[in-house]
Parts: sequence; structure tokens; C-alpha cells
Amino acid sequence: MDKLTVRDFDPQGKRILVRVDFNVPIEDGQVKDDTRIRAAIPTIEYLARRGAVVILMSHLGRPNGKVIESARLRPVAERLSRLLGIRVPCTGDALGLGTQDALARLKPGQVILLENLRFHAAEEADDPEFAKALAGYADVYVNDAFGTAHRAHASTVGVAKLLPAYAGLLMEKEIANLSGLLESPKRPFAAIIGGAKVSGKIKVLEHLMDKVDTFVIGGGMANTFLVAKGHTVGKSLLEKDRVEDATRILEAAEAKGIQVLLPTEVVVAKEITRGAEHKVVPVHKVPNSWSIVDVAPSSMETFMAALDAARTVVWNGPLGVFEVPTFGDGTRAMARYLAGRARDGITVVVGGGDSVAAVEELKLAESFTHVSTGGGASLEFLEGRELPGIAILQDRPAAVGAGKAAK
Ligand code: 3PG
Repeated sequence: MDKLTVRDFDPQGKRILVRVDFNVPIEDGQVKDDTRIRAAIPTIEYLARRGAVVILMSHLGRPNGKVIESARLRPVAERLSRLLGIRVPCTGDALGLGTQDALARLKPGQVILLENLRFHAAEEADDPEFAKALAGYADVYVNDAFGTAHRAHASTVGVAKLLPAYAGLLMEKEIANLSGLLESPKRPFAAIIGGAKVSGKIKVLEHLMDKVDTFVIGGGMANTFLVAKGHTVGKSLLEKDRVEDATRILEAAEAKGIQVLLPTEVVVAKEITRGAEHKVVPVHKVPNSWSIVDVAPSSMETFMAALDAARTVVWNGPLGVFEVPTFGDGTRAMARYLAGRARDGITVVVGGGDSVAAVEELKLAESFTHVSTGGGASLEFLEGRELPGIAILQDRPAAVGAGKAAK
């Protein structure tokens, strides 16, 4: 990775402002999924154990510049305290005299969490005054919030312009794994792309087109490809205005010799509700008043047979209407299959979104090479876009003599 990280400076005695992504689901005042909190622990412990004062900051939800009680970070601070085994207080506001006092009292090794940054509209506006106030708390800035790196906000970009800015250990891991896919995948390289809408995935498909040997396409977005191939899809989710894009992608893939696998048999349902009547049909026989809700087992077998040869796999997006358990079989089968392949030693990266939810639900995350904590961020990374929260971090100086060696 060409960015400086927490390993490139001495944290001892420094006050360090760490942007984390603690945007986690909260229900009834309890954290429902602490994956993102656990993912930030290595950086927090690394800094605290080396004698730094650690000032954490995050957003939660989209409160749009207003204080919303249900978006307070206190439940997150409680879970973090339990995970770290030390008390992590949460301030009542990211700004203000009370917060300044609390920060001034902190001793090396202590950790505090600022209240939800998005209670201030200035955060999302990347307001220079807000960034200056945050930067005033610390000597050094660390960004460990890969999940928010695609946002150019005060806490991801503004502050990084004012303090020496380093990547955290999670940020480093995310960049290494995702850029490893794009830059030096072991071949054959397969991308499994699913999810509801093709519109959100076109740029990913286009960017991966120059890199992969195989595309496996599933989920609601596959319907648009089926229509591009001349099928009708009944009442299924369809983006008519994207059929041309799908056709173009299929043609480009063919011209490049990329194998594109779409389902040939699908599960269709009368209603998209739990337990609704459903059956398996070939893709050329989708009844007019039914919807495609999952990939059928026969097509899953074809997908897996093709993936058996792959040495690198990236997976983004579920293969069916996974949120309705009845229609999540294809997604769950893929999660189990890929976990097995990863345990056999091939590189399998799960690139964010609902496919991560499937992997977590089945408690398989540990089996994978990497499961990204970013949804939108990992998608933009795979699109080949520069993420502002990464771009702004300090570059690693080129090694002396590197230029000569390259000649
Ligand atoms: C996410 O969950 O994708 C990140 O925390 C970013 O949240 P946002 O989409 O509200 O900016």
C-alpha cells in the first residue's frame, strides 16, 4: 500500500483523532451487529497500548444535522468498552466546552468517543471551521473508517488536510485486499455480482471487464440481462432503461472471451413474501404474473462447477431476494461454497453489502480471505474510483533507488 499507516509514527504521548465507521445497526438501544466495531479494535488497541490518547469519531445513520436521540453513539461506546475491557465514555456532543474539558482530562492509553458527527450539518458539508475544531483536539489524524472513505466529509477529508494523516490497520487491510484483486489476482479470476439493481453495478462490471475471466450474475439485476438475451421475466424486478447497458456488457464480455454465467433455471414466486407459493422454472418459461426470486439449485450447480477452476473470487451482492428467508437459498449456498473454497486456500473476498450479511448470518466470515466492512465504499473501490478519504492520506515516500531498479 502506498499510504503511510499507524506503524509509520510513534504514538507515545500523542493525542490521536481516529475516524472510525461505527455506523452499525441499533435496535432498542442495543447494537445489533458489532462487526464494524470489532474491526476497528486492532487500531484502537495498537495506539492505546503505545501510550496515545485515542479520540474516536464516527457518524451513525443520517440525522442530517439534527440531534436525534436514536442516533446517539452511547450504545456503541458501551459495546466498545466491553470489547476493549476499558471504559470508553461518549461525549454529549462532538463540539463544545464540555467535550474539550473531557478530552483535556484524558491520560495516555485512554479512549473516548465523540458524539455522532452528523448531528452537525457541517460534517457532511466538509465545513473548514468544523474540521478545524476537530483537528484542534489532536496532534495526529488516523482514518480507519474504510466504510466511509467514499465520503468527502469534514472527518474524512477536512481534518486530514490539517493534521499529519495516516491509515489505520483496518483501512490498510481493506486497501491491500481490494487492490490485490484489481492489480494482481491469481487466475482464473471470477466475479460474482448480484443484488437488486443492475444500475448500481454497471460501473463495477465495466471496470472488472479488463480483469476477470468469468462473471457470475445473479439477483434481481440478472433479470435485466435475461431480457437483454431475449427472455421475458413476468413481474420480476426489471430496469428497462438498462437493457441496452446489459446488452453492451454481454457483447463486450464476448469480444474479450470472458465467460458470463446467468441462471438458466430460476425460482419464481407469486408474491415476494415469506412462505409464498414458489416453483422452479427454466428462464424461458417465467409465468407472466410471477417474479424471479432466486437462482434454482441446478443453476447453482452450474455456477459452482465454473467457479471450481477459479483461484481468485470476488463476491458482491446476493443471488436472490435474500432478505425473505424462503428465497435466500441460492445466496446461502454460495456463501457456504465460497467459504469452503477459501478454506482450501484460494483467495475469496466478499466485497460489502448484503452478501456480507449472508456470510455473517451463517457465521462464515472467518473462513474468507477478507470480508469488507464497506458497502458503498467497496463498490466504488471495485469501480476503480479514487476514494477521497484514502486519497488525502499521506503517501509513502518512494524508496530510494526504486527508480533505478526499475530501469
Ligand atoms: C455505510 O454504512 O455505507 C457508511 O457508514 C456510509 O454511510 P452513508 O452512506 O450514510 O454515508
